[in-house]
Amino acid sequence: MYFATIFTVVTATLALSASAAPAPWFGNWHWSVPKRNIAINQYNVPLSNGANTLPGYQPEQVKAVTLGRGTQNYTCASSTVSDKPVAIGAVATLFDATKLLPYVPVDQGTKILNALPGIMLNIPRAQLDNSGLPIAGRHYFNAAGSPVFDLTTSSCGMLVASKTAEIPAPKDAEPGQNGAVTWLALDKKGGSHDLSKAYRVNTAGGMAPVNCYGQPSHFEMDYAAQYFF
Ligand SMILES: *[C@@H]1O[C@H](CO)[C@@H](O)[C@H](O)[C@H]1NC(C)=O
Repeated sequence: MYFATIFTVVTATLALSASAAPAPWFGNWHWSVPKRNIAINQYNVPLSNGANTLPGYQPEQVKAVTLGRGTQNYTCASSTVSDKPVAIGAVATLFDATKLLPYVPVDQGTKILNALPGIMLNIPRAQLDNSGLPIAGRHYFNAAGSPVFDLTTSSCGMLVASKTAEIPAPKDAEPGQNGAVTWLALDKKGGSHDLSKAYRVNTAGGMAPVNCYGQPSHFEMDYAAQYFF
């Protein structure tokens, strides 16, 4: 029920934002919502897990609010308890949440944003990729092993990143199979343009099992997260 409600709001809002020039009858739709003057930089990046805090951020610097859905990839040297999974990268689609936010007050928008990673984790990635939700870009790791956030498709820029801070996900995060991946602060390095920072917060799923018992040599764990740029 809760899923259905959130998705009604999301899809209705996305349908609204998709119409650049509303038809004359548009205003008669009873669920028509006026666009508000809410800029995305009124959204504060969630920085605290309740016990630890990521380094500060100026809200006026927020350029994109996205929802990532993909996999965290790991390798295991053996299938025994004596080896631990090693993180080797991730791939994710970055869905554009900024299209949704001008239609709802910031407190409601925050609630929707915070609920979405847990909901999206339970929807197959391929299904979301084909859902028509607007895509802001892609997240992957380059050949040098650096995380890349390519938002050029939405004209937001490109961030080749390095991690500057990491805190555990809060206890109440949606765990998926093995727990929610950490929250991160990331800074730009060479190869970036128009974007200088990213925050991965409100994560859901993505953690590896504690050891390699029974694991194949390469495996993926589904995850979702909010990414603020
Ligand atoms: C991670 O897994 C995905 C499948 O979800 C795959 O497409 C991608 O190439 C993998 N990346 C790495 C670095 O293993």
